Amino acid sequence: MTTPIDLPAWKKLEQHFINTKGTHMREMFIQDPERAQRYWLEVAGLKVDFSKNRVNDEILADLVKLAEQAGLPERMKQMFRGDKINQTENRSVLHIALRNRTNNPILVDGEDVMPKVNAVLRKMGDFSGAVRSGQWLGYTNQVITDVVNIGIGGSDLGPLMMCTALKSFGHPRLNMHFVSNVDGSQLRDVLNKVHPETTLFIIASKTFTTQETLTNAHTARKWFLQGGSEQDIAKHFVAVSSNKEAVAEFGIDTDHMFEFWDWVGGRYSLWSAIGLPIMLYLGEENFIEMLNGAHLIDQHFINTPLHQNLPVLLGLLGVWYINFYGGGSHVIAPYDQHLHRLPKFIQQLDMESNGKQVQMNGEPVSTETGPIIWGETGINGQHAFFQLLHQGTHITPVDLIASLEKRSNLPGHHEILLSNVFAQAEAFMRGKTPEEAREELKKQGLPENQIEALVPHKTFSGNRPTNLILMNKVNPCNMGSLIAMYEHKVFVQGVIWGINSFDQWGVELGKQLSKTILAELTGKIDPQKHDASTSHLIRLYRQTNCA
Ligand code: F6P
Repeated sequence: MTTPIDLPAWKKLEQHFINTKGTHMREMFIQDPERAQRYWLEVAGLKVDFSKNRVNDEILADLVKLAEQAGLPERMKQMFRGDKINQTENRSVLHIALRNRTNNPILVDGEDVMPKVNAVLRKMGDFSGAVRSGQWLGYTNQVITDVVNIGIGGSDLGPLMMCTALKSFGHPRLNMHFVSNVDGSQLRDVLNKVHPETTLFIIASKTFTTQETLTNAHTARKWFLQGGSEQDIAKHFVAVSSNKEAVAEFGIDTDHMFEFWDWVGGRYSLWSAIGLPIMLYLGEENFIEMLNGAHLIDQHFINTPLHQNLPVLLGLLGVWYINFYGGGSHVIAPYDQHLHRLPKFIQQLDMESNGKQVQMNGEPVSTETGPIIWGETGINGQHAFFQLLHQGTHITPVDLIASLEKRSNLPGHHEILLSNVFAQAEAFMRGKTPEEAREELKKQGLPENQIEALVPHKTFSGNRPTNLILMNKVNPCNMGSLIAMYEHKVFVQGVIWGINSFDQWGVELGKQLSKTILAELTGKIDPQKHDASTSHLIRLYRQTNCA
């Protein structure tokens, strides 16, 4: 297996880097007045300005060649036709089937998955319709007012992010709660707010073996049984899982289970039954709209030449900074309060997918791989970490995300918000030269020696990359497009690096070790052999809690 650094395009990109790293984007804009129009794409409700990146036509062309030489077009086809591209788990990767609105057959082991996908969607639609309309009643014949989703990772972050982002589309009677942490204080806080007669619990776990989720689910069940009876559980607990046996063992009637399959990765699962909280809150129609948005991006991704392909370009720009500029982190900055969960969602999507150090064939990678994803709502970030982004020593590309349409009817707010988004993109690109800083200080009438002392501090190097991602409106369709765009971007990068973006073995070791330690903490087994530090911590816990 060739590594990306052996590809001819990689060598050319190394040369481009040497030739252009000293070029300022200000110059690029002056030299190339058409740049803003050319480096702009409108796809599936998303308008993306990628002109403020340290690239030119030659660099972009060679990045696209890199994708071709790394076999991206073939890998895309393999994914879309259901090949088992998640090799270490011998699974297909078919989140695209969950939003395959054209309904053309997609085969896994010779079986078309679409009838199953559609049947679960139907079941979700019927159930959410009954809960929303008030037809589904709790054990004292009251309507459901609160939905508690118990799940973690991909079984939490997607629904939580979407329900938060699309709050304005939410059902007015339904309060949505999300419990992920095994720290009992999260569940306690939620249980203090809800009533057993009017609460619906969704136990969401693909494997139905996740310790945090099952612990929370058992506690919720005990809490419920203080009011309702065993028979009443059927009206208040449903499961979302791919593990029927474990759901039945927990005591949930499998008629009240919403199924998904091993070819849906946890962090790619919000389109599946894991999206049940989304459908309950937004309604079936809006859920389908979200799928439609994602499908539009899927169609664009699979059918558009690489040089005009949005997820491909964003993926390649990321590779350019990570591998050539040594920029190992990437900021997600939504200028939208209801998108405040987005950075966390993209963090799992990207870091659990591409935080890998071996290639498909088990050989070590020869390059840096997935970046550290972090972020916050942009405007709050400006008053926290943007200092580092503007004047720190790292190169950190930033995705600025915003809605063109007003998000509230409070006068004046949206203009201020958007003026900041555009200003940040401009500031990151232009910076401020020492001459400009000096001029400004002169105008303030400062003495010469103070001016010269301040100039270095007031100077901004600029030349810092951003992608500006705009939606006309934050609605289910556009949110579907946005998330699908990021999913494919992550896939593109994984293909370039030759890694498997769809397994997550890195989360296993800690889980394994915690089992032994738990048994020691609870005194079920005698102290085991650990390193001195771990043994000390276990003794300390026992002295504190078991004296
Ligand atoms: O953190 C590992 C992980 O397997 C994630 O990939 C997944 O989203 C999460 O745990 C939850 O898993 P499950 O849905 O099986 O409970």
